[in-house]
Amino acid sequence: MPTVHDWINNPLAVVDGQKMNGFSERSVLKLTCLTLVSFFFCFFQVPSLNDVPLYYLKPNSLVKFRCMVQDMFDPEFFMGVYETNDLTSNSKVKCGKYKDITVGGQVDFNSRNTVTSERQTFYCVPIPGESQWNSYAGTSQARVVPSTSYVPNRHKRSYEEDYEMDTQPQEMKYVRTQSSAESHGNTEPKRQETEAPSHDSSSVHCTSSLDLNFPLPGEKGPACLVKVYEDWDSFKLNDMLEVFGILSVDPALSVIADEREASSLLDHTEVTETVEEQRVHSPPASLVPRLHMLYAQPLVHNNPLLPSSAPESNDLCSVLGELASVRAELHTYLTHVLMGDSLAAEYLILHLISNVYSRRDVLPLGKFTLNLSGCPHSSPYTEHLYKVIQQLVPSSYWLCMCLHNMNNQRMVPWKDYTANRLVSGTLQLANNTSLFLDETQLEQGQLDATGVRNITALGNLISWQKVDYDFNYHQMEFPCNINVLIASEGRSLLPSDSQVHLRPTLNPPNLEEYLSAVQVAQVPSQFNKYRIYLSVARALNYTISDEITTAVEDDFVEMRKDDPQSMSAEDLHRLLVVARLLSLSHGQNTLSRDGWMKAKQLEALRISRTQQQKSVSGNEP
Ligand SMILES: *[C@@H]1O[C@H](CO)[C@@H](O)[C@H](O)[C@H]1NC(C)=O
Ligand SMILES: *[C@@H]1O[C@H](CO)[C@@H](O)[C@H](O)[C@H]1NC(C)=O
Ligand SMILES: *[C@@H]1O[C@H](CO)[C@@H](O)[C@H](O)[C@H]1NC(C)=O
Ligand SMILES: *[C@@H]1O[C@H](CO)[C@@H](O)[C@H](O)[C@H]1NC(C)=O
Ligand SMILES: *[C@@H]1O[C@H](CO)[C@@H](O)[C@H](O)[C@H]1NC(C)=O
Repeated sequence: MPTVHDWINNPLAVVDGQKMNGFSERSVLKLTCLTLVSFFFCFFQVPSLNDVPLYYLKPNSLVKFRCMVQDMFDPEFFMGVYETNDLTSNSKVKCGKYKDITVGGQVDFNSRNTVTSERQTFYCVPIPGESQWNSYAGTSQARVVPSTSYVPNRHKRSYEEDYEMDTQPQEMKYVRTQSSAESHGNTEPKRQETEAPSHDSSSVHCTSSLDLNFPLPGEKGPACLVKVYEDWDSFKLNDMLEVFGILSVDPALSVIADEREASSLLDHTEVTETVEEQRVHSPPASLVPRLHMLYAQPLVHNNPLLPSSAPESNDLCSVLGELASVRAELHTYLTHVLMGDSLAAEYLILHLISNVYSRRDVLPLGKFTLNLSGCPHSSPYTEHLYKVIQQLVPSSYWLCMCLHNMNNQRMVPWKDYTANRLVSGTLQLANNTSLFLDETQLEQGQLDATGVRNITALGNLISWQKVDYDFNYHQMEFPCNINVLIASEGRSLLPSDSQVHLRPTLNPPNLEEYLSAVQVAQVPSQFNKYRIYLSVARALNYTISDEITTAVEDDFVEMRKDDPQSMSAEDLHRLLVVARLLSLSHGQNTLSRDGWMKAKQLEALRISRTQQQKSVSGNEP
């Protein structure tokens, strides 16, 4: 019987062994893997590409990767079954699934046993913007302390050692337009010539020139080509997945890629499109490993403090039990951060638990974009505020709306038809990411045309919770669920659902010292409670009973009786959103009369402050 150890280290050999015993490769993999994957979940034995640097991982071993689907390539063909002239093995017919490179002698391309199969490739990147506290974010590359259980399998130098030189590896993949003789036969002799120990430098060279297409600038971690063999239609762009699969980092892949590039460079008649496309679709495996998917778990959330299933109230009795006290502590903490402004802290909580729970036609329901105006511009206050939010949510991004960024940063993903890939942009984010727009940095009046288009894209994100990806000849709409917080000094170019003008009651002489003191006063365990609280409150269900609906309608009529101008349908809608979020923030999943009254009071406070603010700024010269 294969052991767990065998499965992790050499799953393909286990499959081959079981096949000898008369099982089909497919049924063996499917049955055994599904049981084993759930088994592995408990023991976390499968090394993660997010945590372990690539050169510590054994080629062809089982690994996992938590990622976002950044791009989906066209389906590709590969040799599902092929025959070799291998004299040592009793079976010359081999299975080509879950592999990039053929094994066991020269492939017989004329064999009648050859079966061409189809698979799909997803280009996957780590989930953008995961916070430091988010242990899911992984430690790969950046600050890795290898655990004792991983022994480096390959040195950068001895890449080839693992690699059986007596085999005649061939790349499995081919495109329909090339005959297999062209794509494989020709490269074969060349490949042997180039088998000098110089790959390392060539890979390094590629590293610097290859754009890994991360949505956010400064992201780390591996990108990966995930090969999908089944049900690829069930995945969509920007899905968050945990993929379990077989790691393929065969250096021969890079050699094949290098040769293609070299030969195309020599041959100037070659269409440049192919070169570009090949560079992007077949990057060196040492840089972008291949992962042959056995199983993928869609991620419902990426908060490591919660069970991996959808957060449910009864799962989290302990949190909900002390929900009232956690909420109160969080409110006090945010009040300190907002320099004594308890109303702004209240609205910040509502914002942080908001969520697009449904859509009516194109209108997203439940979003609550907050315009926090009156933020001090002179100090790096907004940066501190962002760091506080980053401490609380699993993933976030601070977008400084300075002119340089607005005019130069790529926001909307666009399709590069030459390289045949989707070039990512800042707004290609996984659902439930918090986006912090810092408008205090925006100087007035010098936006150029692309800057204006970028502002429009942000406006569409806020109003419609969608991003229109640019496919050159048409735009494709991608609905999303992004919490947008706008920190502004005064004027705002962007729409929002609600606005609170910051009114500090404290005036600390040194803002930075004050804010770090506020931070230090929090016990680390308190942060974990806040993080769980926010995720759970955000996921709670909510209903309004018929009785309360009638009461709200009556109240609306009543409020308009004296002054119809005082309350528009839009105001009522916002009031209902505030009432919903306020109830949820107290762990109540239905609206009560009391909850309705409290929401009205809160809104009255906010509106009166806004009006005072307007008259104050109106009096200014
Ligand atoms: C919300 O309701 C849906 C459908 O009624 C249910 O599947 C889900 O588990 C509920 N979520 C929570 C957090 O209770
Ligand atoms: C945003 O700015 C960049 C850089 O100037 C530009 O390439 C891009 O087209 C702009 N985005 C939109 C949606 O226009
Ligand atoms: C993100 O959330 C929106 C809900 O507004 C949904 O329509 C969309 O399909 C989600 N995207 C992904 C990739 O799950
Ligand atoms: C955001 O707040 C500022 C300052 O009061 C205001 O001028 C602007 O109109 C607000 N924007 C929206 C859309 O609420
Ligand atoms: C986003 O949050 C909502 C509510 O908490 C949840 O139902 C949904 O699964 C989340 N989606 C992702 C991709 O995290």
